[in-house]
Amino acid sequence: MSLTFAIIKPDAVERKLTGEILKRAEAAGLTVVALRRLHMTLAQAEGFYIEHKERPFFGDLTGYMSSGPSVVAVLSGANAQPAWRTLMGATNPADADEGTIRKELAVDLEKNSVHGSDSETSAAREISYFFSELDIV
Ligand code: RTP
Ligand code: MG
Repeated sequence: MSLTFAIIKPDAVERKLTGEILKRAEAAGLTVVALRRLHMTLAQAEGFYIEHKERPFFGDLTGYMSSGPSVVAVLSGANAQPAWRTLMGATNPADADEGTIRKELAVDLEKNSVHGSDSETSAAREISYFFSELDIV
Protein backbone atom coordinates (compact mmCIF):
# COMPACT_ATOMS: atom_id res chain seq x y z
CA MET A 1 0.00 0.00 0.00
CA SER A 2 1.13 3.54 -0.74
CA LEU A 3 -0.26 7.04 -0.26
CA THR A 4 -0.99 9.95 -2.56
CA PHE A 5 -2.37 13.45 -2.14
CA ALA A 6 -5.55 14.73 -3.80
CA ILE A 7 -7.42 18.02 -3.99
CA ILE A 8 -11.02 18.49 -5.02
CA LYS A 9 -10.57 21.98 -6.50
CA PRO A 10 -12.88 24.99 -5.93
CA ASP A 11 -14.87 24.50 -9.16
CA ALA A 12 -15.84 20.96 -8.14
CA VAL A 13 -16.58 21.80 -4.51
CA GLU A 14 -18.79 24.70 -5.63
CA ARG A 15 -20.71 22.39 -7.99
CA LYS A 16 -21.22 19.84 -5.16
CA LEU A 17 -19.10 17.16 -6.81
CA THR A 18 -17.13 16.27 -3.65
CA GLY A 19 -19.14 13.10 -3.04
CA GLU A 20 -19.07 12.08 -6.70
CA ILE A 21 -15.28 12.42 -6.86
CA LEU A 22 -14.63 10.57 -3.59
CA LYS A 23 -17.03 7.84 -4.79
CA ARG A 24 -14.92 7.37 -7.92
CA ALA A 25 -11.75 7.07 -5.83
CA GLU A 26 -13.36 4.48 -3.55
CA ALA A 27 -14.89 2.57 -6.47
CA ALA A 28 -11.39 2.24 -7.94
CA GLY A 29 -10.15 0.62 -4.73
CA LEU A 30 -8.54 3.64 -3.08
CA THR A 31 -9.23 4.40 0.59
CA VAL A 32 -9.72 7.96 1.91
CA VAL A 33 -7.35 7.95 4.91
CA ALA A 34 -7.47 11.72 5.63
CA LEU A 35 -9.93 14.42 4.55
CA ARG A 36 -10.38 18.15 5.21
CA ARG A 37 -12.21 21.11 3.70
CA LEU A 38 -10.30 24.39 3.66
CA HIS A 39 -10.11 27.76 1.93
CA MET A 40 -6.47 28.21 0.88
CA THR A 41 -4.90 31.62 1.23
CA LEU A 42 -2.98 32.93 -1.76
CA ALA A 43 0.26 32.35 0.15
CA GLN A 44 -0.70 28.73 0.87
CA ALA A 45 -1.55 28.15 -2.82
CA GLU A 46 1.77 29.72 -3.88
CA GLY A 47 3.66 27.45 -1.49
CA PHE A 48 1.80 24.40 -2.65
CA TYR A 49 2.45 25.06 -6.37
CA ILE A 50 5.98 26.46 -5.82
CA GLU A 51 7.36 24.16 -8.58
CA HIS A 52 5.38 26.27 -11.09
CA LYS A 53 6.44 29.70 -9.84
CA GLU A 54 8.24 30.67 -13.07
CA ARG A 55 5.35 29.55 -15.30
CA PRO A 56 3.18 32.19 -17.00
CA PHE A 57 0.03 30.65 -15.50
CA PHE A 58 1.29 30.75 -11.88
CA GLY A 59 -0.70 33.87 -10.91
CA ASP A 60 -3.92 32.60 -12.44
CA LEU A 61 -3.45 29.12 -10.94
CA THR A 62 -2.78 30.32 -7.40
CA GLY A 63 -5.53 32.96 -7.63
CA TYR A 64 -7.97 30.28 -8.69
CA MET A 65 -6.90 27.79 -6.02
CA SER A 66 -7.44 30.44 -3.34
CA SER A 67 -10.77 31.64 -4.81
CA GLY A 68 -12.99 29.34 -2.75
CA PRO A 69 -13.09 26.26 -0.55
CA SER A 70 -11.46 23.04 -1.68
CA VAL A 71 -11.25 19.58 -0.13
CA VAL A 72 -7.85 18.00 0.47
CA ALA A 73 -7.40 14.27 0.95
CA VAL A 74 -4.87 11.51 1.38
CA LEU A 75 -5.64 8.36 -0.60
CA SER A 76 -4.21 4.94 0.16
CA GLY A 77 -4.00 1.92 -2.11
CA ALA A 78 -1.86 -0.21 -4.36
CA ASN A 79 0.16 2.23 -6.49
CA ALA A 80 -2.06 5.04 -5.19
CA GLN A 81 -0.06 7.84 -6.89
CA PRO A 82 -0.32 6.62 -10.51
CA ALA A 83 -3.74 5.07 -9.87
CA TRP A 84 -5.24 8.43 -8.83
CA ARG A 85 -3.58 10.26 -11.77
CA THR A 86 -5.13 7.71 -14.14
CA LEU A 87 -8.59 8.26 -12.63
CA MET A 88 -8.13 12.05 -12.96
CA GLY A 89 -7.18 12.09 -16.64
CA ALA A 90 -5.07 14.61 -18.57
CA THR A 91 -4.51 18.15 -17.26
CA ASN A 92 -6.65 19.67 -20.03
CA PRO A 93 -10.12 18.05 -19.94
CA ALA A 94 -10.25 18.38 -23.74
CA ASP A 95 -7.35 15.88 -23.93
CA ALA A 96 -8.57 13.56 -21.15
CA ASP A 97 -9.62 9.96 -21.83
CA GLU A 98 -13.27 8.92 -21.72
CA GLY A 99 -14.37 7.86 -18.25
CA THR A 100 -11.88 10.05 -16.38
CA ILE A 101 -12.88 12.64 -13.80
CA ARG A 102 -11.53 15.55 -15.84
CA LYS A 103 -13.23 14.38 -19.04
CA GLU A 104 -16.60 13.94 -17.39
CA LEU A 105 -16.65 16.63 -14.69
CA ALA A 106 -14.06 19.35 -15.36
CA VAL A 107 -14.84 22.75 -16.87
CA ASP A 108 -11.57 23.76 -18.58
CA LEU A 109 -7.78 23.70 -18.23
CA GLU A 110 -7.83 25.87 -15.10
CA LYS A 111 -11.07 24.61 -13.53
CA ASN A 112 -10.03 21.01 -13.96
CA SER A 113 -11.69 19.81 -10.75
CA VAL A 114 -8.94 17.69 -9.18
CA HIS A 115 -5.27 17.60 -8.28
CA GLY A 116 -3.10 14.56 -7.83
CA SER A 117 0.57 14.25 -6.91
CA ASP A 118 2.77 13.68 -9.97
CA SER A 119 5.35 11.43 -8.22
CA GLU A 120 5.98 9.63 -4.94
CA THR A 121 8.32 12.45 -3.92
CA SER A 122 5.63 15.07 -4.60
CA ALA A 123 3.08 12.96 -2.71
CA ALA A 124 5.21 12.95 0.44
CA ARG A 125 5.77 16.73 0.29
CA GLU A 126 2.14 17.53 -0.49
CA ILE A 127 0.69 15.25 2.22
CA SER A 128 2.89 16.88 4.83
CA TYR A 129 1.96 20.36 3.52
CA PHE A 130 -1.65 19.88 4.67
CA PHE A 131 -1.72 16.96 7.11
CA SER A 132 0.16 15.72 10.13
CA GLU A 133 1.00 12.05 10.55
CA LEU A 134 -1.70 11.83 13.23
CA ASP A 135 -4.41 12.84 10.72
CA ILE A 136 -3.80 9.77 8.54
CA VAL A 137 -5.78 6.81 9.84
P1 RTP B 1 -2.36 19.42 -10.84
O1 RTP B 1 -0.94 19.69 -10.39
O2 RTP B 1 -3.30 20.52 -10.46
O3 RTP B 1 -2.82 18.06 -10.41
O4 RTP B 1 -2.39 19.37 -12.45
P2 RTP B 1 -1.40 18.61 -13.40
O5 RTP B 1 -0.32 17.93 -12.62
O6 RTP B 1 -2.22 17.76 -14.31
O7 RTP B 1 -0.80 19.81 -14.24
P3 RTP B 1 0.43 20.78 -13.87
O8 RTP B 1 1.33 20.83 -15.05
O9 RTP B 1 1.02 20.43 -12.54
O10 RTP B 1 -0.29 22.20 -13.77
C1 RTP B 1 -0.93 22.59 -12.57
C2 RTP B 1 -2.21 23.28 -12.92
O11 RTP B 1 -1.92 24.52 -13.59
C3 RTP B 1 -2.92 24.76 -14.56
N1 RTP B 1 -2.29 24.94 -15.86
N2 RTP B 1 -2.54 25.95 -16.64
N3 RTP B 1 -2.51 27.78 -18.80
C4 RTP B 1 -1.78 26.69 -18.87
O12 RTP B 1 -1.09 26.40 -19.83
C5 RTP B 1 -1.80 25.77 -17.74
N4 RTP B 1 -1.09 24.66 -17.63
C6 RTP B 1 -1.41 24.14 -16.44
C7 RTP B 1 -3.87 23.61 -14.58
O13 RTP B 1 -5.03 23.97 -13.84
C8 RTP B 1 -3.12 22.50 -13.88
O14 RTP B 1 -3.99 21.63 -13.21
MG1 MG C 1 0.81 18.93 -11.15
